[in-house]
Amino acid sequence: MIPILVTSGKGGTGKTTVSVNLAMNLAERGIKVSLLDADLLAPNTHLFLDVNKERLREAGKMLIPLKVGEHLEFMGLGVFIPKGVGVALNYEKTADFITTLLKFVKWSGDYLIIDAPPAAIDVNVKLFKELRGRARAVVVGEPHPFAIEDNLRILDLLKFFDIEVRALVLNKYNMYQEELAKQVMAEYEAHAKKYGFRVVKIPWEPRLQTQTVPELFDELAEAVVG
Ligand SMILES: Nc1ncnc2c1ncn2[C@@H]1O[C@H](COP(=O)(O)OP(=O)(O)O)[C@@H](O)[C@H]1O
Ligand SMILES: [Mg+2]
Repeated sequence: MIPILVTSGKGGTGKTTVSVNLAMNLAERGIKVSLLDADLLAPNTHLFLDVNKERLREAGKMLIPLKVGEHLEFMGLGVFIPKGVGVALNYEKTADFITTLLKFVKWSGDYLIIDAPPAAIDVNVKLFKELRGRARAVVVGEPHPFAIEDNLRILDLLKFFDIEVRALVLNKYNMYQEELAKQVMAEYEAHAKKYGFRVVKIPWEPRLQTQTVPELFDELAEAVVG
């Protein structure tokens, strides 16, 4: 099983949207996919999936992921926290929670897509360490100068932990000034050469706010599994 970390330099850039749609896209190709919501800041991945949180089952000491259709399974932090309940977990507990889900869920996918917390915070660093040398990454950003600054830091960190970046998603690229988007694209392309990843554009698409539209993610899927 190959872990695919979906991460970003800052929050709210589209990690959850990308994670769920990428997972659906791969599953529709008949690839077995596992999806882990590891973003304790906003564990909301399950909202896009038809999962029944009451049906948690275990086998031996392993937790069975929730089935979402024929080729997709899911587990995430949101499954354990009832709606409307605030949780105050410190860094250690959060990081342990994520590591536990990585190790003690009976994943059966060929790929494990991880919807990660944003930015170079301590929880992420623990996750990068855990996945050192064996994961691929997708970095999600919007075409804005702030995003470049933040994403370059994440790219550097991923390199340090020997995590292979496969794609940088330029999300909602058509929502920004055309000139700005072009400028950002050019800067990312220069880094893409250096790091060896693809820059994949995803448009602002209102349907993505309420449902999955996997067909928009073909290019990303090919960059990730090839
Ligand atoms: N390409 C897109 N088109 C339209 N809306 C999007 C797109 N990507 C993300 N969004 C919306 O932007 C917001 C933040 O996206 P989300 O995936 O939750 O980001 P993150 O997981 O990084 O916090 C959500 O309301 C989501 O529906
Ligand atoms: Mg999210």
